[in-house]
Amino acid sequence: MDKTFHIVTFGCQMNKLDSELLRAALEKNGMRPVRAPSDADVLIYNTCSVRQHAEDRVLSHLGGWRKRAEADSDFILGVVGCMAQRLGDEIRQQFPFVRLLCGTRSFLNVPEYIGKISSTGRAVTATGDRPIRIERDPAMRSEPHHAYVSIMRGCSNFCTYCIVPHVRGPERSRPETEIVDEVQRLTADGVAEVTLLGQNVNAYGRHKNHSDGAEGGLPRLLERVNAIENIKRVRFVTNHPKDMTEDILRSVADNEKVCEHLHMPIQSASDRVLKAMNRRYTRNHYLNTVEKARRIIPGIAVSSDFIVGFPGESDSDFEDTLALLRSVQFHQSYIFRYSPRPGTDAVQLADDVPDQVKRERQQALLAAQKQVDIRRRNGLVGETLEVMCHGHNTHRPEEGRLIGRSRRSDIVVFDGCNKGKINAGDTRHVTIEKATALTLFGRIG
Ligand code: SAH
Ligand code: SF4
Ligand code: F3S
Repeated sequence: MDKTFHIVTFGCQMNKLDSELLRAALEKNGMRPVRAPSDADVLIYNTCSVRQHAEDRVLSHLGGWRKRAEADSDFILGVVGCMAQRLGDEIRQQFPFVRLLCGTRSFLNVPEYIGKISSTGRAVTATGDRPIRIERDPAMRSEPHHAYVSIMRGCSNFCTYCIVPHVRGPERSRPETEIVDEVQRLTADGVAEVTLLGQNVNAYGRHKNHSDGAEGGLPRLLERVNAIENIKRVRFVTNHPKDMTEDILRSVADNEKVCEHLHMPIQSASDRVLKAMNRRYTRNHYLNTVEKARRIIPGIAVSSDFIVGFPGESDSDFEDTLALLRSVQFHQSYIFRYSPRPGTDAVQLADDVPDQVKRERQQALLAAQKQVDIRRRNGLVGETLEVMCHGHNTHRPEEGRLIGRSRRSDIVVFDGCNKGKINAGDTRHVTIEKATALTLFGRIG
């Protein structure tokens, strides 16, 4: 197909990966990517439904294409991913000029759908729920040295606030051998670091019906990926506190390439709220798990997500969460205001925390986390960290410095110009000289 395309991506890392897979599929069919959305014959939004705000942003983008879509009959505007899965043809009631709607499990058929739309002139909606089989083109990734690799898809946890199980379908683990093969092919193409992705990676292989070939669970997978020769670093996200085991923590400690970073969202520190969220752990279980992780993996960085303003969250529930955020000293915290999602169980509950209060609670958690960050980062001045280079610091190219990440995911800007050539994916020991709330600065040696 002699067409140009552009993909705009919203949402999580899984969506970023899906966009890369989609791009590979389109290129394989002879289509050519272009940088500017307005230059594309085919413009695709890969969308997220996790909060209303994420959906609103896409809707306002779509509105912006009305003129062109109505004037240019060759232009194909498509919506794929979670929003297309959730809303299907409803999107077309508001935007009749959207010609392709394709959900989370048929997006690899998009080239075929585009062919159909071009030849028949008719719109296509595809929101089937058969699991997808992924054929990975190793060259398709956003950074030269790093790749996302999905190890499982979907989620069966049904936290009451969350749309993901509704739009992504049930949890399924990919076979170990398929994942190991994929990582091997990625390393042959120059990848030094992989991030293993899933909504609930620490339950990898543990789902009775959908885990053929994954029976060794996350520990064996980490061990096998760790053994791949040219891999230097392995990361994995996201972890559910209820599924964290000592075996997994030990395998992080024992496999030297697996980075000391555990993203394990608590969401709230109130047992009452956790119960209403259907998280299936208590605050004490969470704290014990963090304590265990810190004992088994010395220096491990633990990070979390929080939701403020869940239905019924009182001032004192919130105070508990704020106190826990301070006492655990998270490495990083992502803080979201509760957004009711149609179709989830929590929409039955009154969204009774006023928006203003949600905002105040969010600000309070952000401020507390910032204090934790500043203290921790200042404590790193004078230390030497292993940093993997990502490339030049594009925020301030005139300074000619490099940017990379420590094993615990801290961003480090460092001077390396007079130390020979350093490529993306190379690691160096960097001595930290200065810290700000978000970044560390240092020099090699
Ligand atoms: N599977 C991952 C995260 C999925 S969504 C996990 O279980 O941790 C990423 C984050 O978005 C969640 O951790 C949660 O903090 C937030 N989130 C999900 N649904 C939300 C909603 N309805 N309103 C606000 N935040 C939400
Ligand atoms: Fe959503 Fe819960 Fe599944 Fe995470 S574990 S994707 S928060 S339902
Ligand atoms: Fe990801 Fe958003 Fe879908 S968080 S799974 S893109 S709803």
